[in-house]
Amino acid sequence: MPISVHPLSPSIGAEIRGVDISKPLDPKDVAVMRQAWLDHCVLLFRDQPLDAEQQRTFVRAFGELGGRKVRLEPTNYKRPEGPDYNADAMLVSNIREDGKPIGVLPDGEMWFHHDMCYSAEPNRASFLYSIEVPSWGGNTMFSSMYAAYENLPQSLKDRIEGRTVLQAFDEYQDRRVDFSERPLDSVPHCFQPIVLRHPETGKRAIYVSRLMSHRIEGLTEAESEALLEELFAYTEDPAIRYEHVWRPGDLLMWDNLCSTHARTDFPREERRLMRRYTLAGEPVIPAWDQRTAA
Ligand SMILES: [Fe+2]
Repeated sequence: MPISVHPLSPSIGAEIRGVDISKPLDPKDVAVMRQAWLDHCVLLFRDQPLDAEQQRTFVRAFGELGGRKVRLEPTNYKRPEGPDYNADAMLVSNIREDGKPIGVLPDGEMWFHHDMCYSAEPNRASFLYSIEVPSWGGNTMFSSMYAAYENLPQSLKDRIEGRTVLQAFDEYQDRRVDFSERPLDSVPHCFQPIVLRHPETGKRAIYVSRLMSHRIEGLTEAESEALLEELFAYTEDPAIRYEHVWRPGDLLMWDNLCSTHARTDFPREERRLMRRYTLAGEPVIPAWDQRTAA
């Protein structure tokens, strides 16, 4: 069966069929996947038995592995051993062995965010693979930041043009950093353009999220909060989303520059085990940077 591309929603996401990503890849198939990724921001591969090395090899077909800015593993972290794990993988899991967590970001809901947007060189992409999933929930929702920008009224586009936003993250999944408790320098943070230009497609994408965007520069706190809420009505619009219900053996790869994602709640007592790698990225290009204007 030849490789084929099947959109998952009107705005974002496509399923790739007809390729076994655990095997060496045909360069022609890689080219098809790469173009589909640029077109749809999120790619899904179903029914792919992958060990850690096979997943890492697949990620490397698209570029250099990304590093991490925040080590979320607690001090009593217990990294498992075996073919499902290696040192480059980050495990996202609520499983505890001998009372010690084997993964990070364990339980419950996680608000919309761009992975690593609080870094000067955010990881370009994330590749998340499902090993164990709960009976319900733990879904990953993706939202197209191209569509969010296109849907803004011109007056709102004008109000955010040229602005930067403070992106920050510490340990919480469903609340922002409280800077009355934590000095800014004590948490990973970065000032980023509020609208970016995608380095390959040349398109504009909004670069704010409920979890990680804290303050728009040049505005009072109240003005900033009000403007962020206005933007979230567009970035979290259900009409521009795809919600993925995981099955074991799914791999999702997403572009962190043109999509945001969030996780829905799930039963704490049920096991969820995911394995993640990332692709390295470069400094974000402001949409108004004329040197790169498409
Ligand atoms: Fe994430």
